[in-house]
Order: sequence, then C-alpha cells, then structure tokens
Amino acid sequence: MATYVVLMGPPGGGKGTQAQRITDELGIPQVSTGDLFRAMKTQDTPLARQVQDIMASGDLVPDDITVQMVKERLSDQDCAGGAILDGFPRTTAQADALADMLADSFDTGVTVAVLIDISEAEAVKRISGRRSCPACKRVYHVDYDPPKQAGICDDDGTALDQRKDDQPDVVRDRYQVYMNKTAPLISYYEERELLERVNGEQPMESVTADLLQVIRKRIK
Ligand code: AP5
Repeated sequence: MATYVVLMGPPGGGKGTQAQRITDELGIPQVSTGDLFRAMKTQDTPLARQVQDIMASGDLVPDDITVQMVKERLSDQDCAGGAILDGFPRTTAQADALADMLADSFDTGVTVAVLIDISEAEAVKRISGRRSCPACKRVYHVDYDPPKQAGICDDDGTALDQRKDDQPDVVRDRYQVYMNKTAPLISYYEERELLERVNGEQPMESVTADLLQVIRKRIK
C-alpha cells in the first residue's frame, strides 16, 4: 500500500527541512508545492507570472491550479510508493481534492497528517536566517544549520539565496494566511483520526525521530 504523509505547520516550521531528512528513510519523494511553484519562475507565461505575484504577496495560489499540479506530480513514476506532501493541502478544498484524487486514482487515502508545531516567534526567527540552494533545494540556516563555507551549498557548490517572500512584512502576511486558511485543517484531520502532532521546537534530529515514530506507527 502506498504511503501519503501530509506535513503541516506554519511558515518556517520545518516542513521542508524534515521532508528532506525523512525521504530516504521512508523511500518516498518529497513533493513540495512551494518548490514546484518556485520552479515556474523561469517560465515566461501568464500563469507563471500570476503564480510569482501571488507568492510574493504571501497569499495562496488558487486551489484549482494547485490541485492540478499535485495531481500531475503524484502520477509520476517515482511517486508510485506514495509521497511526503510538504505544504499541501493548505485549504479544506485542497484536502477534499486530495482525498478524492487518492481514492479515485490509487484506491487509498492519506496515511497520516503530521502537524509540526512551533510558535510564531520561533518561525520568524528561523525564516530570517534561512538560506537555500536554488539548484538542489537544500535548506540551511545561518546559525542553526550553516553550510561549511558561508553562502555556498555543501552538496553542489551553488551560491545560496534568500527567498523573496522571506521579508518580515510578507512573513507576517503568510502567517495570517496560515492561521485563517490552513490551521482549520488541524481539526479536519483530527476528526478523521489522521492527525499526529510533533513538537517542532526541538533540535532537528529530535524532530526527525519523533516524526518517523508517529509516521511508522500509521504505516500498515
Ligand atoms: P512554501 O514554500 O510551502 O512555504 P511555507 O509553507 O511558508 O513554508 P516554508 O517553506 O517557509 O517553511 P518550512 O516549514 O518548509 O520551514 P523550513 O524547513 O524551510 O510556500 C511558499 C508559497 O507558495 C506560499 O506562500 C503560497 O503562495 C504558495 N503555495 C505553496 N503551497 C501552496 C498550496 N498548497 N496552495 C496554495 N499556495 C501554495 O525551515 C525554516 C528554517 O528553519 C530553515 O532555515 C531551517 O534550516 C531552520 N530549521 C528547521 N528546523 C529547525 C529546527 N528544528 N531547529 C532549528 N532550525 C530549524
């Protein structure tokens, strides 16, 4: 049976970091809607420009565009065993669409939804020090998880960059969007007995260990 793990939590909560750390352990790829949208940056189409403008403002990309993109990605061969969904779903409509797509196309459902819980203050601190590799997408933090050489990716030598939507005013808007549109999914998955919570305010290794524990107990 394929495994579909939903990683939830506020901006800067550690979803991407943890998805990268557990993908090998679980043998399924990370599917990050944020990364998929950022990859559209190089395209010069009205849709790509619309998506970049929305992301820069901190708002959510419309559900129909997001759902279609995830549907296509989950049908790729490397997702045959499932996926770690990082940043999707983010609205009740997306969660309903995910349930339908897994039932219709793969005769299954979400295995577990894990909330990586951290405070707004900690999320802001983490986002301000975040740097990422535009080539391999590895995420660093200038204090908590620095690269060996400042500003350079350990894995491929690419210069690290800072996301445009990591400016303090946009971060505040993203947090509000999370509270209004995404936090309701906590009770959505709780009602369906699919929710697990992990304390995100621990060292990365401890968060990873807790995550793997709650995910493995749900895998049949
Ligand atoms: P997205 O890229 O998904 O951004 P996000 O949800 O705001 O989450 P972040 O990537 O900011 O944080 P993260 O939780 O992954 O934290 P990270 O691991 O990097 O989305 C961006 C935009 O795309 C959205 O605003 C929206 O416009 C659009 N979008 C995406 N999905 C969408 C959807 N489904 N529907 C509609 N629109 C969508 O960690 C942060 C920092 O902390 C890093 O520097 C890391 O090194 C550090 N860190 C992590 N863990 C720890 C730890 N335990 N201790 C110390 N430091 C840590």
